[in-house]
Amino acid sequence: MTQIWSISLIVFVLLVVILILKKFFWYGRLKQLTNKHVVITGGSSGIGKCAAIYAARQGAHVTIIARDLKKLEAAKNEILHACQNKEKQKVECVSLDIGNNYGDVEKTFNNLERTIGPIYMLINCAGIAICGKVEDTTIDNLKYMVNLNFMGTYYAIKAVISSMKSAHEGIIVITSSQAALLGIFGYSAYGSTKFALRGLAESVAMEVAPYNISVTLSLPPDTDTPGFALEDQSKPLETKLISEGTGPVSPESVAEQLMKDALTGRFFSTVGLEGFILTSLCAGMSPISSITELLLQALLAGMLRLVGACYLISFRRIILNCMKNRDKNKKSE
Ligand SMILES: *[C@@H]1O[C@H](CO)[C@@H](O)[C@H](O)[C@H]1NC(C)=O
Repeated sequence: MTQIWSISLIVFVLLVVILILKKFFWYGRLKQLTNKHVVITGGSSGIGKCAAIYAARQGAHVTIIARDLKKLEAAKNEILHACQNKEKQKVECVSLDIGNNYGDVEKTFNNLERTIGPIYMLINCAGIAICGKVEDTTIDNLKYMVNLNFMGTYYAIKAVISSMKSAHEGIIVITSSQAALLGIFGYSAYGSTKFALRGLAESVAMEVAPYNISVTLSLPPDTDTPGFALEDQSKPLETKLISEGTGPVSPESVAEQLMKDALTGRFFSTVGLEGFILTSLCAGMSPISSITELLLQALLAGMLRLVGACYLISFRRIILNCMKNRDKNKKSE
């Protein structure tokens, strides 16, 4: 009897190891970007700029959209440098507040399709993170994040979806966050907008699948970008202690992973072991990217829930300790 158990265990572990190796080291064929039009919101810095540079290296025509004209021009130069064929490839930048007015977004995208060509790939990177407990979050900041992170992404997708459907090809990338997979202290506003993006990605993926259009949801951990430096200033101590550990990853690595996953049609895009564990645990009713991923999620779900529970208990301890320390400081004042 014990023999059957040990054999089953060995088979289980072997299967998991093989599936993990296949997931991480076997990509299959990446779709080509040569002469295709790639539009990136939030493309003047951080993950967006790195994705734009990646696309330029692959021979794509690249348009970046952001608000700050100076940063856009500087990024445009960098992207031009990365082009495979500087004569043929077009690089454009547009100053636009993506989450402000749908009419403006639609007009901009229509212009871009006319001047540069049909949009083959839309990469939504525009977004901002401001932390704070519910009582410390201003209504202005809440609305700012809902508009930029959620509405901006919705607007951009709405503006390209019809022409992608009639072209019968296309790739949509939505940049969310690991904070879209679990609620975290201090992320009530930011995390909610990122949760919303997951809902958006799953719905859109179901709508466009018959039209040969794929949707990829990027879920980066803390990433070393200008936005992250800003976010860090508003972070409560609890949030810092909960999310610390591995330290921020580079925007280049997030962008490269995002592009590879999008160009092979995977739904989730994550970096590192943590991202893999979190998406396996939180796969839920997300679209099926591959049999490998589906089997891994099915095999690991139960066990990972228990691992997750240990994390949740440690988070609770952190929050209680912070509260006790604050009370002690108050008394000693
Ligand atoms: C689907 O899109 C890809 C490019 O993303 C294209 O190469 C392929 O021909 C399309 N397939 C169909 C059936 O339209």
